[in-house]
Amino acid sequence: MTNALSVLLDVDTGGDDALALLLAMASPALDVRGITCVAGNCALEQVVTNTLTILDALEAPPVPVAAGMDRPILEPGLPAPPLHGGDGMGDLRLPAPRRSRVHIHAVEFLRRTLADSAEPMTLICLAPLSNIAMLLRMYPRIGDKIERIYVMGGTFAAPGNTTPAAEFNVRYDPEAAAIVLHSGLPVTLYPLDPFMQVRFTKEEAEAMAGAKGAGARIAGGIALHYCRFFGMDFSLIGDAGTVATVIDPEGANWVRRPVHVDLSSGTSRGATVFDRRVMTDGFAREGEWTDVDVVTRVDAPRYRKLMAAALGAVEALAD
Ligand code: BDR
Ligand code: CA
Repeated sequence: MTNALSVLLDVDTGGDDALALLLAMASPALDVRGITCVAGNCALEQVVTNTLTILDALEAPPVPVAAGMDRPILEPGLPAPPLHGGDGMGDLRLPAPRRSRVHIHAVEFLRRTLADSAEPMTLICLAPLSNIAMLLRMYPRIGDKIERIYVMGGTFAAPGNTTPAAEFNVRYDPEAAAIVLHSGLPVTLYPLDPFMQVRFTKEEAEAMAGAKGAGARIAGGIALHYCRFFGMDFSLIGDAGTVATVIDPEGANWVRRPVHVDLSSGTSRGATVFDRRVMTDGFAREGEWTDVDVVTRVDAPRYRKLMAAALGAVEALAD
């Protein structure tokens, strides 16, 4: 009997999803009961391959990996962003995976795993929300088995990264994001604001890339890929910060605010509009709004240490 939190991860691995997997698999605070894959950072098949590759490299226990939606609910999907490299995970030339996926659709895998669980489980969603939205639409009562949904997505006060207004995961499948955020289930959003905060320097990434453990070497290699791509001397831990928030909520500042997902076809499609006004009672608000918990800021030094410790590479940190 352990006190670890039972979680399911939904990913589009993805360099920073890989960092999130490294952290989640290493943390004794989490019991990863399954990983579902969705198209986003790269095509679905590549996401599955990358996810299995990371698990192999870590010699992880046989956690089930299921493939899900290969496109958003309505739109054809966006082109793969070039920042993640040709394979979507930093082109590290890791060996092809030996383990296999489970041959069941991710939505069915989620339904079955949640239904079979004695206790409600926590979902950690680091990708477009197509799988999760389909699950909630097809099996609305499954919400009883969901403790909380953590979502990397959207922006609070920060600008977008895919359009001036919208963050990638929400812009990729805005209808799915609206379904999940307005589901009435407890949601914690980890938007671009904290996402941009937690970084490793290039020197730290170099030290990790030369470290002994497989996780540190992969994390260092991925971070160096992003340093090269952006021509910067630092790299973000990105999605891994969402996992850090689940492991160590004391390191996060959050507020509860009403959110609306812009589903228009204009320039703000996929924007997460928060009602940040001090006084909202009696003031106009058009469209669908739901209260969610949103992480506005995190203790970056604390999460850097958490990540480095999980990789067995604390000595790589400069501070
Ligand atoms: C999100 O989009 C992807 O590029 C990253 O993996 C992250 O989940 C950031 O907008
Ligand atoms: Ca992601």
